[in-house]
Amino acid sequence: MISFIYKKIIKPILFLFPADDVHTFFLKRGYILGNLKYAKKLLGKILPYKNTILEQNILGIDFINPIGLSAGFDYNADLIGILPSVGFGFHTIGTVTNMPYQGNPKPMLDRLPRSKSLLVNKGFKSSGIDFVLKKINKKKKSIPLGISIGATNQSYKSIEDMTMDVYNCFEKSLAADYFDYFELNISCPNLINSQNLKEKFDDPIGFKILLDNLSKLNINKPLFLKMHAEKSIEDSLVLLSIANNYKWISGIIMSNLVKNRENKSFYKEEIVSAGRGNFSGKPTEEFSNNLISEVYKNYKGRFIIIGTGGVFSGVDAYEKIKRGANLVQMITGMVYEGPSVIGKINKELAVLLKKDGFNNIKEAIGTKKY
Ligand SMILES: Cc1cc2nc3c(=O)[nH]c(=O)nc-3n(C[C@H](O)[C@H](O)[C@H](O)COP(=O)(O)O)c2cc1C
Repeated sequence: MISFIYKKIIKPILFLFPADDVHTFFLKRGYILGNLKYAKKLLGKILPYKNTILEQNILGIDFINPIGLSAGFDYNADLIGILPSVGFGFHTIGTVTNMPYQGNPKPMLDRLPRSKSLLVNKGFKSSGIDFVLKKINKKKKSIPLGISIGATNQSYKSIEDMTMDVYNCFEKSLAADYFDYFELNISCPNLINSQNLKEKFDDPIGFKILLDNLSKLNINKPLFLKMHAEKSIEDSLVLLSIANNYKWISGIIMSNLVKNRENKSFYKEEIVSAGRGNFSGKPTEEFSNNLISEVYKNYKGRFIIIGTGGVFSGVDAYEKIKRGANLVQMITGMVYEGPSVIGKINKELAVLLKKDGFNNIKEAIGTKKY
């Protein structure tokens, strides 16, 4: 019923307005609702789906279900109050950067509905870590909360300078002693921050410089590395063979946005008129799924896997889990299907797990053989 109302009435109205404005509208309303006890209670009765079959303890963190909000939607931490009532099992804020960046010129977002994709041209828009930490002010949280950290989108003289920027952001976030996990984002396409540098965070030399420096911090909570979608499997595995040497890297998130417009998931009439930026949703799904299978094959038991990219249904999420993902994140599916899709996906997952004879989601991870 809620899904019907969203898709037939609310979404057509929202989609009349620019995507940037609708996103801001939702963040503002989400922030207000998250501070209203009865609104949260009401939504919490309607939207979430609960079932012990979906519960897991991963790296000491309890997850009531495997569906989380991916980095990029709640980039300034507006939704900490409301997301548990929407039905998410965990929540990443950010990507947050050390220094503020106002974002690229608008439009920063656009829709490609037939391709089930969003155009993203935000370029790490962030109010900066100091602002975000002050705003959070150790707000009460009821689901695991992570922060995604990346390099401020400005130009640097050297890779060491850019590393220091990320280091400082981590140092402040660790000192806050608030987050349950961290994400290190080295994979956002089209940023200007490394354009003029010889080494970059996503090539082996730059990556090692970054990790060696972050090793000086006491990263005492699980850290997940956010990977590219479109790098070749071989190049990704080279980066992971380096990451494998750093015990504080607990897991891998696969994967980020895509930029290749030849991707066969795009409807031609939509992609030819798309502006500057990268893409989420269905065009990312195959990359994400293939990488999950490869990483599970090579690093089962070493890295926890979070799968993200093109999840719109329980079947989509289950595919990632069977390929080796412990957890799943999403944004685009929620934008197109509405907030009730989180509960729906969890419900579908529970049905699929039972149908396949599993007593808990953990038993299904990596069961699909290739
Ligand atoms: C509007 C938007 C902004 C995003 N910004 C970020 C970001 O700041 N950091 C990041 O790691 N990923 C970012 N992403 C990528 C998502 O976290 C996710 O990896 C990707 O969208 C695939 O998931 P989806 O198909 O469910 O959207 C962004 C995605 C969207 C749609």
